[in-house]
This record gives sequence, structure tokens and C-alpha cells, in this order.
Amino acid sequence: MYNTSAFFFSVNKPLKGVYALVTAGPTYELLDPVRFIGNFSTGKMGIAIAEALAERGAEVTLVLGPSNERAVHSSITTIHVTSADEMYTAATDAFKQAEIAVLAAAVADYKPAEQATEKIKKKEGTLQLDLVKTKDILASLGKIKQPGQTLIGFALETNNELAHANKKLTEKNADMIVMNSLKDEGAGFGHNTNKVTLLKPGKEPVSLPLQSKAAAAGAIVDHILELRCAL
Ligand code: CTP
Repeated sequence: MYNTSAFFFSVNKPLKGVYALVTAGPTYELLDPVRFIGNFSTGKMGIAIAEALAERGAEVTLVLGPSNERAVHSSITTIHVTSADEMYTAATDAFKQAEIAVLAAAVADYKPAEQATEKIKKKEGTLQLDLVKTKDILASLGKIKQPGQTLIGFALETNNELAHANKKLTEKNADMIVMNSLKDEGAGFGHNTNKVTLLKPGKEPVSLPLQSKAAAAGAIVDHILELRCAL
């Protein structure tokens, strides 16, 4: 006899038994106990992706930078981090078991060379800050990626969007890049909507319409499913 419940789960929960990693939000790089270098990311897009993966049956580890937003699905475990270094450690650890990794976080590219233990006092004249590069989490995971692991990155661009995003796709060894342009109305930080273009190696870019971040996340996860079928 035909097992309808098994059919229901394979169609509606195609990621049942699959472990996924998502990074989301900004990182804060501390200058001293009261100041940091950060960015305007809210974490909404990454959290929407974690929710969309969980809805399709995945067990998700969400590595979340400082954000007021929270994931609600019971299959999402959130690890809260502050800095790029902490995000690197948590993401690298979770990647060992992950079949899918979506790195949506807006990670700081630079951190202060030194973190003052006391508040930096105001002085006459200008203040020079020495910054050093943080580790690139997506590029690091791209280097250790194994067959069967699907690695997705984001690219936030303000100019020459396709060229810059395609460079990230190749150089970071990603299977797909989700590109946002800050030039697009209703896209990027803070909005509840997003307009993204999906780039895959050797394929024409796919531009999705302006839609809610939840709907965009659903469409992105559908493309991830398609990529996994092609593995
Ligand atoms: N990323 C990362 N670790 C970093 C910097 C970026 O994992 N230290 C990831 C982001 O999560 C995203 C992708 O790399 O998936 C691209 O991030 P983006 O900020 O658009 O680009 P960068 O590589 O930082 O390059 P640039 O700032 O020069 O555009």
C-alpha cells in the first residue's frame, strides 16, 4: 500500500535529517570596553534563511552576531557571538557536521590591532587606529569544503555588483552567492524586504523580485535544494 505520510514528509520536509549552519548579523570588534567597530546589519535575512531551512526539516545551528532579532523555530539552535574571531570559531566547529552552510553574516573585515583594557581617553589632535584583517570565514570554509557540502555566501555590493560578486563566488569556492545591491530600493540592511540575484558557477544569474525577507529566504532555500539535487 502507498505510504502517504512518508510521501508528505519527503515533499514538505526534504531536509529532514540534514544539518545546516547559518551565520547572521553583524560582528562588533571592540576598541575598548565601551566602543566597537561594527556595521548596520540586523541579522533579519540570515534568521529568515535559518527559519526556511528549519521549515523544510533541517536541524539548524545559527551563529548570530549582536542582534535584537531572534529565531523562533524549535529546530534552530542559536549560538550568540560578538566578534569575527568568535564567529569564525563557532562556524568552523559547526561546519564539521553541516551538509549546508549559508554565510549571511556581515562580518567585519578589520579589527583593532589592540583592544584597550581601559576606556581610551580623549586627547589633543587626531587619533590613529591600527586595524588588522579578520579571518574570512567563507573563504576558510571554502578551502576545507568536502564533496556533499553545499556552501553559500552573500555579497553586499554598491557598485560593479555582478563583477564583484562573481569574484567572491570563485575566490571563496562557494556553490552560490546571494548578491544584494545597496542601490536597490527596499534591499539590504534594516528593511523587511530584499531583492537578490543568485550566482552559481557556470550559470546565468537569476534575479529574484523585491519581496519579503521570508519569501526571499524560501526562494534561496529552494535554489539550495536544486543545487543539492545536482550534486
Ligand atoms: N565573509 C566572511 N568572513 C569575513 C568577511 C566576509 O565569512 N571576514 C563572508 C560574508 O558572510 C559573505 C561573503 O563573505 O557571505 C562576502 O562578504 P562581503 O562583506 O560582501 O565581502 P568581503 O569578502 O568582505 O569583501 P568586500 O568587503 O571587499 O566587498
